[in-house]
Amino acid sequence: MKNTLIFLLSLFSICIYSQKPTDFLSSEFHKNRRNILREKMPKNSVAVFFSNPIRNRANDVNYKYHQDPNFYYLTGHQAPHALLLIFSENQDINGQSINELLFVRGRNALAELYDGERISTEEAVKAIQISNVYQTPEFKDFPIDFSQFDQVLYFEFKNDVRDTKEEGDLYDLIDQFKTKAGHPDKQASTVHVEPQPNNLNSSLLRNLLAPMRGIKTAEEIDLLRKAVKISALGQNEVMKAMRPGMSELEVQGMHEFIYKKYQAEYEGYPSIVGAGHNGCVLHYIDNYNPSIEDGQLILMDLGAEYHGYTADVTRTIPVNGKFSKEQKQIYDLVYEAQEAAMAIAKPGVPFSEIYDATLEVINKGLLELGIVDNLSQEELINPATGRHRYYPHGCCHHIGLDVHDLGTRDVLQEGMVITIEPGIYIPEGSPCDKKWWNIPVRIEDDYLITADGIELLSNDAPRKSEEIEALMKEESAFGQLNLPDLDVK
Ligand code: GLY
Ligand code: MN
Ligand code: MN
Repeated sequence: MKNTLIFLLSLFSICIYSQKPTDFLSSEFHKNRRNILREKMPKNSVAVFFSNPIRNRANDVNYKYHQDPNFYYLTGHQAPHALLLIFSENQDINGQSINELLFVRGRNALAELYDGERISTEEAVKAIQISNVYQTPEFKDFPIDFSQFDQVLYFEFKNDVRDTKEEGDLYDLIDQFKTKAGHPDKQASTVHVEPQPNNLNSSLLRNLLAPMRGIKTAEEIDLLRKAVKISALGQNEVMKAMRPGMSELEVQGMHEFIYKKYQAEYEGYPSIVGAGHNGCVLHYIDNYNPSIEDGQLILMDLGAEYHGYTADVTRTIPVNGKFSKEQKQIYDLVYEAQEAAMAIAKPGVPFSEIYDATLEVINKGLLELGIVDNLSQEELINPATGRHRYYPHGCCHHIGLDVHDLGTRDVLQEGMVITIEPGIYIPEGSPCDKKWWNIPVRIEDDYLITADGIELLSNDAPRKSEEIEALMKEESAFGQLNLPDLDVK
C-alpha cells in the first residue's frame, strides 16, 4: 500500500512537472556561455553580474519581474536578488578552488506564500550547473578580495534599486559589492561618476558580451523562430478581424491574445498600434483611439517574447481592407526599399549598406511621387529634429533577449538575427500635397543571416499590399465574439 502511494505520488509529480515547458534554453547553454566569456576575460579578472531590480508600478504593486538579459544569458536564473561572479582563473576561496560563484535568495515560507516558490541553493546547483551557490546574505562576509584582481568588470548599476529591507536583497548586494571593491559610491541607488580604484572597469564587459550575444546559437534561433512565428500569426489574425470603428486597444488586445494563446509570456516591448496620425509617432504606445476611422492606415509594431527571446514585427494595413491610391503608392515604396535591403544582405555586408539601400529607394520614390522637389538637405532634413523628414529612423538592429539586442554592428555575420524595417511617415502639416498627410507605413521583418544570404523568419505574415488585401477578406474567428454593451454610466 505504502509503495503504491509513493508510486502514485511520484507519477503525480512527474505529471505536474511535465506541464512545464521543456523548450527553455538548456543549462548546458548557459554553462557554455560562461565558459566562453571566461576565456575572453583578461588575465586575473573577475566579472560581476547583478540581477535586474524589481520595478515598482505603484504603491505595493510591482511590474511582472523580468531578468537582466546578461544575467539570464549566463545562468537561466529568472528570479530577482541574485549575484553572479565569474573568475578568469580558479580562486582558492573557503578552502575550495572555484571559477564561478552564484548567490541566490534562500527559501522563505512567508514570501513564498505570496510570490511562489524560490529556488534553494541545492536546486540552483543542479538547475544552473554551477557548483558553488550560496544564499545572498552570505555575500556580505564572503572572503573575496577584489583589490587583488587586475580588473573588476561590471556593468553600470541600475539607479532604480529599492531597499526591500530583506537581508541580502539586491540593494544590499550592490552596496556590499561597492564596499568590498572600494567603489566610491556607497549607496546602491546612486550612479557613480568616476571609479577610484583603477581596477574597476564598467565598459569592457559589454564589448566581451556583444560578439557572443550577437551571434545566436541553434537553441536561441529555435526560440526566436517561435517568437517570430507567433508574432506573424498574430498579425494575420488581426488582418482578418480588422474593421473601421474598432479601437486601437482592441487591436492591441487581439495581437496579445494570440501571443498568450501560444504561451508567449510577455510582449518584448510595449505594443505600438497607431492609426492615421498616431502611426506617425514612432514609439506611440498609448493606443488610445477608441474608434479607428474608415480610410485610415493602421501601423502595428508588436513582438511576442517567448522564453526570453523577442520578435519585432510591423505590419501596416488599411483599416477597411483596401489601400487608397496614395496609401498603396507609399506602401509599395516602403516594400521596395525593404526588398532592396534583402537583396544585398549577407555575411560581410556592413549594416550601413543595408540602411543606404533602403534610403536610396525611399528618396528616389519620394522624388518621383512629388513629395519632395529635389534631394537637397533642405528638402530631406527636418530642421526641428535634424532627421530625415519622412524616414527618420535606422533600419536594422539585432533581436534576441532584448528587442534592440546586444551585438556588434559593423558587418553582418552568419548567425545574427536582425530586423529590416524601412518606413515612411507623413504627418499632417508636412510640406507636401495634403493627399499624403497622415499616411504612416513601416514594414518590419526579422531575418536570420545565413552562410550566403538571409532567411526571412516572419514570412508567415504577408508583406505585399495585394497579399494583405487578400488576407483581409478572410473570415475572422474574432467576428464570433459578440459582447454585451457595458450599459453603465
Ligand atoms: N519596436 C521597436 C523597433 O522597431 O525598433
Ligand atoms: Mn525594430
Ligand atoms: Mn518594431
